[in-house]
Amino acid sequence: MRAKQRKLQLPEKLRWNHNEWYRRWLLRQLPSRAESALDVGCGLGDLARSISDSSRAGNVTAIDASERMIERAGATSDRIKWIHGDVLTHDLGRFDVVTAEASLHHLPLREGLTRLAELTEPGGTLIVIGLYMMSTNADRAMELVTLPANAIVGVAKALNGTGGKPHDTEMPVVMTAPTLPEIREAAAEITPGARIRRHVFWRYSLVWRAPEVH
Ligand SMILES: C[S@@+](CC[C@H](N)C(=O)[O-])C[C@H]1O[C@@H](n2cnc3c(N)ncnc32)[C@H](O)[C@@H]1O
Repeated sequence: MRAKQRKLQLPEKLRWNHNEWYRRWLLRQLPSRAESALDVGCGLGDLARSISDSSRAGNVTAIDASERMIERAGATSDRIKWIHGDVLTHDLGRFDVVTAEASLHHLPLREGLTRLAELTEPGGTLIVIGLYMMSTNADRAMELVTLPANAIVGVAKALNGTGGKPHDTEMPVVMTAPTLPEIREAAAEITPGARIRRHVFWRYSLVWRAPEVH
């Protein structure tokens, strides 16, 4: 099921970037040292640059289907291999670390997750921060935490000048996403053993260690 979800919107100046909120968490999931990392659906390349700056991956590659995103991301760092292409079909090889921040819901769930798993080297780590569609009572309970927390962080960011402009206007977005039960079901088949957690601010995480041989 891929239905649209309506969110209560804060006024423009109180909005902020929920993906960025999870970036430090995501970086903490990286192994202490990896040879290679791939960021899928890199957008403007913020996560890829953070991984590169963290020196926890020798080579960082980033792919995005949007030519404009890659053009803009590519202008920000020449230490990263920027690829304009479709992750589902582009010949990429395998990586010790594969990350997908707010991009898996742009792909058909099972096909996308299968592809991310294939791109992960045996023994490597796949880290997803994703969007999901609210569908369960637990999701609704989380919403009771998320709504006030979203407003409080929005006010705090507005006061310290780090809020506003949650999304770049050129960044491709889609308004649909799978539900968490759908994600858990797909992950149980495609990435068995993956740790999936529901987070505040309309996000979930999936961390999977690829078996040594797969
Ligand atoms: C919501 S943006 C997230 C960008 C970035 N990861 C971030 O967190 O700021 C999703 C990105 O996925 C990219 N994308 C969508 N489908 C893709 C595909 N098949 N292959 C590669 N990138 C894709 C879009 O172009 C877009 O830049």
